[in-house]
Amino acid sequence: MGIKTNIIDLANFKNLSEDTIKEKMLKAIEQINKGEVIAFPTETVYGLGANAFNETAVEKIFKIKGRPADNPLIVHVCSIKQAESIIDFNDFIYKNNNNKNTETIRDENQNKKDNINFQFLSKKVLLDRFQKAQSLWPGPISFIFPAKKDKIPSIVRGGLSTIAIRLPDHLLAQILIKNSFPLAAPSANISGKPSCTNSIDVINDFNGKISYVIDGGHSVYGIESTVVDCTSIIPTILRPGFITQEDLYPIFSDIEYSDALNYNIIEKDGSLKSSPKSPGMKYTHYKPEAKVVLLGKNEDKYFLSNIAKSSSKKIYMMKPLDFSFDINNNEPFKNLKNKKILILKHSDLFDPLFEIIERFSSDTKIINFLDSYSFAQKFYALFRQADRENREYIFIEPYGFSGFELAIMNRLQKAMDEIWTF
Ligand code: TXA
Ligand code: MG
Repeated sequence: MGIKTNIIDLANFKNLSEDTIKEKMLKAIEQINKGEVIAFPTETVYGLGANAFNETAVEKIFKIKGRPADNPLIVHVCSIKQAESIIDFNDFIYKNNNNKNTETIRDENQNKKDNINFQFLSKKVLLDRFQKAQSLWPGPISFIFPAKKDKIPSIVRGGLSTIAIRLPDHLLAQILIKNSFPLAAPSANISGKPSCTNSIDVINDFNGKISYVIDGGHSVYGIESTVVDCTSIIPTILRPGFITQEDLYPIFSDIEYSDALNYNIIEKDGSLKSSPKSPGMKYTHYKPEAKVVLLGKNEDKYFLSNIAKSSSKKIYMMKPLDFSFDINNNEPFKNLKNKKILILKHSDLFDPLFEIIERFSSDTKIINFLDSYSFAQKFYALFRQADRENREYIFIEPYGFSGFELAIMNRLQKAMDEIWTF
């Protein structure tokens, strides 16, 4: 059952005129205008988009993707003016729910009477932040502002009074939006699965469920946009991405990133210190069928075990390896016998381990990355390919926790099942 899913091949869009592109996309534009859902490319990952003003259309995205209703969507626009038209620039007063989501409280006096702890952002501050945000658009970064609630239905915002907005740096996305509506669009993947960075992967998840996929070739960055909350007292990075905290300092003189926003931070005594702020952060993400093992060094034991605990993942701390190592007598190695395995690495640090794995597995594929940017661009697609090849394990050499690499580690920490340290 289901509808026919058509691919509009625009992988060579850079050689085409705007008119030609528009003509080729006409059927997809018609679908959006009719309140349907289609998939389209952006410079980060593919999006699953519908008219952001149309509640019924946006409902379909949640249904097709299997997305929890409290996880808001990013609205993609084609101009600064369009962004401006959906932001409420009035003084923003909200209740600070102790690290939970913000909720607008318009009646300041009632607040005072009820002794509610509220915070206040003036129109001036919001306009200033919007000026700064603009300087990074078009680009792989989304900003959260107070929403014009009469324009953007509650379902898009996951019930919040704020809205995440992005002006993508992708000609096809821009032309599509220009000729239809601002598009509410999450990443184009079944909820919980790795994002899609090419049209084949989109088809694998949504064949028969959407009418059109616009194929713009492989995504340039390969990981989702940086998400910056401009509605908190200090602008805050909720999701790291290609544009880093270091990049943002010169623009927003104060900007925070805290892991507390992404994970449950556990104290040494096992108690919960804080939990995620962005609604999406509490759900499973980016997971292939294969078991994902993140490697680590014993020196980072405390740090890694904290990560493992806060995301309830298993951690195995092991002795350094040598070649006499007998897989049959060692947990968790026993499980690797005769398995199909994918290894993603970028140095020779874990080569002794990989040599042992190769000896015992039935089929090991090793991919060596030259830099973190090429890793970011390809790893989601490789996760998906590993599943198609029935690989049972994916071993990954980690990156660092600063600059752009932080964005990679943020995704890997969510995708992983186990950490093995040596
Ligand atoms: O690069 C990207 O951002 C891609 C492409 C398609 O643009 N989109 C994307 O969307 O990654 P999605 O839905 O997979 O992730 C959006 C994230 C979620 O973690 C969501 O919770 C958060 O942004 N978010 C959206 N609106 C929010 C809001 N008003 N407040 C807090 N977090 C919000
Ligand atoms: Mg997503």
